[in-house]
Amino acid sequence: LVLILDYGSQYTHLITRRIRSLSVFSLCISGTSPLKSITELNPSVVILSGGPHSVHTPESPSFPAGFVEWADSNGVFVLGICYGLQLIVQRLGGEVKIGEKQEYGRMEIEVEKACGFFGSKKVGHKQVVWMSHGDEVAMLPDGFQVVARSQQGLVAAVENPLRKFYGLQYHPEVTHTPEGMETLRYFLFDVCGLTAGWKMENVLDEEIKVIRGSVGLDEHVICALSGGVDSTVAATLVHKAIGDRLHCVFVDNGLLRYKERERVIETFERDLHLPVTCIDAVDQFISKLKGVTDPEIKRKIIGKEFICVFDAFAQDIEHKLGTKPAYLVQGTLYPDVIESCPPPGSGRTHSHTIKSHHNVGGLPKDMKLKLIEPLKLLFKDEVRQLGRILNVPEAFLKRHPFPGPGLAVRVLGDVTQGNSLDVLRQADEIFIQSIKDAGLYDLIWQAFVVFLPVRTVGVQGDQRTHSHVVALRAVTSEDGMTADWYYFDHKFLIDVSQKICNNVRGVNRVVQDITSKPPSTIEWE
Ligand code: XMP
Repeated sequence: LVLILDYGSQYTHLITRRIRSLSVFSLCISGTSPLKSITELNPSVVILSGGPHSVHTPESPSFPAGFVEWADSNGVFVLGICYGLQLIVQRLGGEVKIGEKQEYGRMEIEVEKACGFFGSKKVGHKQVVWMSHGDEVAMLPDGFQVVARSQQGLVAAVENPLRKFYGLQYHPEVTHTPEGMETLRYFLFDVCGLTAGWKMENVLDEEIKVIRGSVGLDEHVICALSGGVDSTVAATLVHKAIGDRLHCVFVDNGLLRYKERERVIETFERDLHLPVTCIDAVDQFISKLKGVTDPEIKRKIIGKEFICVFDAFAQDIEHKLGTKPAYLVQGTLYPDVIESCPPPGSGRTHSHTIKSHHNVGGLPKDMKLKLIEPLKLLFKDEVRQLGRILNVPEAFLKRHPFPGPGLAVRVLGDVTQGNSLDVLRQADEIFIQSIKDAGLYDLIWQAFVVFLPVRTVGVQGDQRTHSHVVALRAVTSEDGMTADWYYFDHKFLIDVSQKICNNVRGVNRVVQDITSKPPSTIEWE
């Protein structure tokens, strides 16, 4: 295991992904985790991430007391990246000073000493890297050597092979460092001696083992299916592990897309042979959301109602089978976990929750069902790979993500205002169908329409209208953690705008969201 200690860099999750793409399992936890949480995981390599802090600030986050001694005595390799390097230098007796020359963006570095990081690259080899630091290493701790410097003469890479401590001032994980992947590969395989062996097949076997180990032979499990990639793959996996002791439920909460309920139930039974019970809970959800405008409160209400529905479903099963299901399967992904529980002290979110994803932060504390979240450590593209191994049809795997709180986070403000949900459903269907017709669906990570709670003046059929605005949102992304807005051609946008205004009563204006994530998020709430 390669363990990444997160100090709040916006690139931390990328390090995790890059290492996994080299077929080595990696996990990311808060950089201020107690020593026990680190040692329990028994990593052979620990990477200290970058972060927005300066080691000179008293409250800047650091690894726990005893970490260095533990690494030294267990022969654990430690690599510091950017802030992580500065932490190592400062904590091991070197000096980091506030930089006279700052380095942000593209920089050239030159290898000064042949070393494991650079494989067979000779002294004098130059490469372009991505830097992002204000502080600089002024004096190395005893036993450390500089192995590369930047064009400004600043320390760019260091090593202490005897103690197995290494450091890079630049970010090898970003694509702006073209030789970065090679450097990580050399480091993990040549320097640390790891072998590539982590495959989705192993994840599958491991998860099945874990599920069989925790769910007793007479215990039953329920699974909330949304029809999306994550819950579908999670259900298929759990079904493989425990067979018909899995009971799937699909909840119509009134916040679904156009004809979603019919489409999901039909395809599940036809393509996946998973029996699904459909529960109509439209009134239950909508009545609880009446008048609620705060996005976080909406999310919490929805999370709570879902659990009430699942509890009731579990009771029904108990009546039928005489035994109450003890577990609930959820398709929670790693980014959901990271975003709902940012690492303490990480500057990324200043310990603030960005959004309570309803299947993570929004769960009530008194929930009786225990959770099975077999995808909790995976990124979306990894879930798709797993789905392929499980023979989940491509049509499921390629579906755009749809958030747990559904259209509630796409009708801004009160979802019960007028016929907002119906308007949104119709406009969204036109947009998505147009994207499919244009052959763009698979090029886009996620596309949807947002209903804005404002009215604007328009003129339709020579009549003044005072109707709603909808926004088109389409983004490309690798994992939902960062995203770019998708650039449609004019003709496409003209057609969609016309179709929506001509076919959806109550809409007289269509706008497009042209913001990336960050600074925005993908969903508007
Ligand atoms: P944001 O809006 O946070 O979304 O940039 C990132 C990805 O997560 C989806 N999303 C959710 N998924 N429960 C989910 O299962 C939620 O509460 C939730 N909120 C957002 C979003 O659609 C995007 O793909």
